[in-house]
Amino acid sequence: MNNTMKNIASLLLDRVPESRYRLLRTIGRLADKEGMTAAVVGGFVRDLFLDRPNDDIDITIEGDAVAFGKKVARKYRSGYYSTPRFGSSTAVLHTTTIDFATARDEAYRKPGALPVVTPSTIDKDLPRRDFTINSMAMDISPKNFGKLYTLPTSLSDLDAKLLRVNHDASFEEDPTRMLRAVRFEQRLGLTIEPHTESLLRAAATHGALSTISGERVMNELKLASDEQDPSRFFSRMDDLGLLDIMLPGLGFTSNDKAFLHRTLDARELFGKQAGDRWMTCMLALTRHLSADQAETFSRTYRFPGLLHRQAHRLRQLPDGWWELTPGALSLRFGHLQPPALAVLSAGSHSDLVRDYWQKWRKTRLATTAESLKERGMGTRSAGRLLRKLLEMKRDGLLPDEQAERAEIDRRLKHRGRRRKK
Ligand code: CTP
Repeated sequence: MNNTMKNIASLLLDRVPESRYRLLRTIGRLADKEGMTAAVVGGFVRDLFLDRPNDDIDITIEGDAVAFGKKVARKYRSGYYSTPRFGSSTAVLHTTTIDFATARDEAYRKPGALPVVTPSTIDKDLPRRDFTINSMAMDISPKNFGKLYTLPTSLSDLDAKLLRVNHDASFEEDPTRMLRAVRFEQRLGLTIEPHTESLLRAAATHGALSTISGERVMNELKLASDEQDPSRFFSRMDDLGLLDIMLPGLGFTSNDKAFLHRTLDARELFGKQAGDRWMTCMLALTRHLSADQAETFSRTYRFPGLLHRQAHRLRQLPDGWWELTPGALSLRFGHLQPPALAVLSAGSHSDLVRDYWQKWRKTRLATTAESLKERGMGTRSAGRLLRKLLEMKRDGLLPDEQAERAEIDRRLKHRGRRRKK
């Protein structure tokens, strides 16, 4: 471990908005008043060197981070929550969210298990972290504001654009780091250093991923889906054999890459209603799976009910669905949400999805359920008739209100005759 004695206060002042600089100063002073020392750590410091904006602030505290987070939240009249078991808390300010964690040495009882935590100091807190470039902290206490703590190769690795684990057991201890490695590599244009890559491949082959919950894996996939180009993440996951480990047969070819790009572009059609980007990515990623495989994937990685149902409904569309009439198609599409529609749109029938979304979906009838009930129909048969009328109208068979009324009269007469018989 290397306490470089470098001070980066001026870099901070140059590269972050003044309000952010002042916020850190204030938090540092507040900690000092409480007899604690505070430092920003991890991605914020890494991105400061890379001159990339990073709005997430992680703060390590030599002291009680649960109590301190509460103090900060009170000062800024912000939201607050804590996880005392891990010595951590979060203050949700108007401008940013700040995570506080007690500086600690950490031990993992068994691979994939959550860590056992012992309070410690800022510099001793660094080696337990995932990668050297994420293992940097900047003191924000009044005495030492800007003082940088790093591991010996943090800065040289960042210069050389290398992603290196801090120790050989890193992936086994926390297998989410395998997915984090791919995410950082692709986002920041890094190379996973060869020894780190061999550790990652070994951990993957030894089944490290299966030691953590499906939720934690899915959480990483969600984060990856929010990257600027998630397809690079999925391609690299495939290269490293991680997709096949997640589910035998799950892959990501160059065709899938182009498909995902088209799917994400198709989200524009839905504007604010586009829904979660990660759901769209998951539907695109799993679209080739058989029904059984899709079921296994969804159960293992804990798709929420909505996503599970959308995946199922996509699969239930009949072959040749694009040959259905607008009316029949709209009935089918009525069960699909924008993430699933975006996937359909990325196929070769984007015009049908667009017409559905912009036109057919908005078709309205002059007739209401009430007016049908007044003419003696029950709720169910009124609903059925309304659906039929809507289908006909979308197919251009009921050009105006008069045609709609005539169709109702015809059907009611027909119904009356049937009843008499
Ligand atoms: N960390 C870790 N192991 C993990 C998760 C996090 O060591 N499995 C450490 C890293 O030092 C990381 C810091 O906690 O930098 C903060 O975590 P997170 O906010 O997830 O990472 P960032 O590096 O800030 O990533 P991003 O830029 O995506 O927010």
